[in-house]
Amino acid sequence: MKIFKTRREFQQYALELKRAGKTIGLVPTMGFLHDGHMSLIDIARAKADVVMVSIFVNPTQFAPNEDFDRYPRDFDGDVAKCADHGADVIFAPEPGEMYDADASVWVEETSLSRPLCGRSRPTFYRGVTTVVAKLFLLAQPDYAVFGLKDAQQCFVIQKMVRDLDFPIEIIPAPLVRDSDGLALSSRNRYLSADERSRALSIHRALLTAKEEIISDRQAMAAAIEKAKSAIAAAGGRVDYVDILDCRTMEVPTADSRQVILAAAAFFGTTRLIDNEIFEI
Ligand code: PAJ
Repeated sequence: MKIFKTRREFQQYALELKRAGKTIGLVPTMGFLHDGHMSLIDIARAKADVVMVSIFVNPTQFAPNEDFDRYPRDFDGDVAKCADHGADVIFAPEPGEMYDADASVWVEETSLSRPLCGRSRPTFYRGVTTVVAKLFLLAQPDYAVFGLKDAQQCFVIQKMVRDLDFPIEIIPAPLVRDSDGLALSSRNRYLSADERSRALSIHRALLTAKEEIISDRQAMAAAIEKAKSAIAAAGGRVDYVDILDCRTMEVPTADSRQVILAAAAFFGTTRLIDNEIFEI
């Protein structure tokens, strides 16, 4: 497995692979890899000749009051897991390497990125789209895999690729959960045992609301309020629970088919997100 630390060497290598006619699958990550990330690498492995994993805790998507400095890191562990799953290349730049000190260009999606996490983290998605656009231009992938754990992020990236004509197929990957239902996340590491068991309320509340909405569309608002109360009763501080049309990321209409029921809540200081995507 090759490990690159600089943009120039990484891009040069990718361009050589392209010239040799190889297909490239990219899995962008912030490291501290878990089975959710591994499922993305497995999907890329099945699709492409060469699998690249980027490991970069991207400072531009963290607000000043967020957890950039304490975001969990385990580079050696990550390398071993990538090797185990047949990745060929790791790109792991230092923050100072990824951005020029006087960088002044942003890539910003201005519609799908507005609600949900975009509302509570107003600078988050432009940090994501900017770094992912850079990673796409460096890695030259034919395929890039994004998890539906971060469904809004996946939709925003699909929109970026369409609107800016990146010649890349975005592959959405199913959300991977622990056996008790908690969505796997690098941030789960922050949770105490007590917080972790309380945090199971998020998924439970979403599942209950989903059943209620499927059986009675008119019950949407009430089901959402009930889900918020259930998470709060378990000790969570609810950021949002909302249901949106997956295509527009707006309030579902009579024409809506696929919807996303999404939640974000703090347990202690840890902000967790989860969602259910289904047809109504
Ligand atoms: P990170 O949180 O490390 O996630 C990297 C990828 O793994 C994302 O596509 C995310 O949706 C996916 N993922 C995380 N947990 C998952 C789970 N439980 N099931 C399925 N997929 C899961 O998302 C980011 O990093 C960053 O914003 C990034 C795209 C790398 C840009 O910096």
